[in-house]
Amino acid sequence: MNVVALRTNSLEQQWMPFTANRHFKAHPRIITGAKGMYYTTDHGDQVIDGSAGLFCVAAGHGRTEIAEAVNQALLEIDYAPPFQHGHPLSFELSRRIAELTPGDLDYIFYCNSGSESVDTALKIALAYHKCRGEGQRMRFVGREAAYHGVNFGGLSVAGMINNKKAFGLGLPGAIHMRHTKLPEHEYVRGQPETGAELANDLQRFVDLHGADSIAAVIVEPISGSVGCFVPPVGYLQRLREICDANGILLIFDEVICAFGRTGKQFGSDSFEVVPDMVTMAKALTNGVVPMGAVAISSKVYDAITEAAPEGAIELFHGYTYSGCPAAAAAGLATRDIFRDEKLVEKAAAMSPKFLDALFDLRDLGVVTNIRGYGMLGAADLAPMDGGPGKRGARTLQEFYAAGVMTKMTGDTLLVSPPLIAEESHIDEIFTKIRDVLSKH
Ligand SMILES: Cc1ncc(COP(=O)(O)O)c(C=O)c1O
Repeated sequence: MNVVALRTNSLEQQWMPFTANRHFKAHPRIITGAKGMYYTTDHGDQVIDGSAGLFCVAAGHGRTEIAEAVNQALLEIDYAPPFQHGHPLSFELSRRIAELTPGDLDYIFYCNSGSESVDTALKIALAYHKCRGEGQRMRFVGREAAYHGVNFGGLSVAGMINNKKAFGLGLPGAIHMRHTKLPEHEYVRGQPETGAELANDLQRFVDLHGADSIAAVIVEPISGSVGCFVPPVGYLQRLREICDANGILLIFDEVICAFGRTGKQFGSDSFEVVPDMVTMAKALTNGVVPMGAVAISSKVYDAITEAAPEGAIELFHGYTYSGCPAAAAAGLATRDIFRDEKLVEKAAAMSPKFLDALFDLRDLGVVTNIRGYGMLGAADLAPMDGGPGKRGARTLQEFYAAGVMTKMTGDTLLVSPPLIAEESHIDEIFTKIRDVLSKH
């Protein structure tokens, strides 16, 4: 089937997510194909992918291995109910993921997106405390300037104002530590040396609300969508210490970081802190089939499963498509590609070149700050007259016309190329970015 042949005469009926719908429909950007590092537009132009889609297409586009694995799975088993039944593909994928996860994060719970993985982890945290007789632990600690997806749990613990302000009060009992953006962190490459003490905000909440009211803390190891804020040296370690001292669970939201983005398998590996749960999605299936997952420590899994009577359901949570065959097949094929092409090692090896190219943007007048770690980086652009976000929106369109795709959050440009990127691709991405930004 040729996607290009499926041209539509109407854009009107679809309400697009996180999009200026009226503007888009007047000035559409339609992608009709994707292969390797490039998209093809409906005008036949090539656009290099500087953001791995939305951080998900780590192994590059159009991977026939994944398409064939999904096709084969669908021909053999299109669907099996995940409640009270199973199929081999999701069990095998769990085994493969558990081989990679740090510490005793050996149990994998499936869902369909990063947002669902966050809400799943929060619910598991509540269930863990409840089954141990500490059901009064209902508070969640999140952080300012965090993104944890769009469902109500994730929204409540996150800290991006535009994502929250139209949607009411969220979960009661969600409280927020300060973010880790400090004025002295200008143009810091890697981890900032200062700011670890910001983790003591958690201690202040313990002192203010009582440790026994707090269920879990959730942070992105690197705050991704909001602009690549890398944790200060010692910050995540301090969070771990306070959690351990107070019976609080630590959740790392690795929806972006997991599977090589930081140059190691997980952000947890890069920053040498093992949480009690890790959320993941995106590169889990290379973005091909929606899938999210939570890796859960045996401490948490055992507590919940052993607390239930023999034969009883232990956790009243799950999705119709938890670990569905097509997604599991895509996940397995993606893991094979990662293993065979050593994509995590490749990311680590390419990171210095990537960060050099990113930090070279510093001389551009419009660039006000740069951050980066592994194969993830951000450059802040000076806001234009007319308000925050205007320059970002303009830049996104100019990049597309110039043949490069990045993610924009407000006036911050995020770069996270597929991990298959060669040096020539990094050069092409940043040459195109520079060409556009030098005209601002
Ligand atoms: C850290 C983090 N958590 C959760 C999500 C939500 O994932 P999804 O869009 O798959 O629901 C994202 C998406 O970018 C993310 O970056």
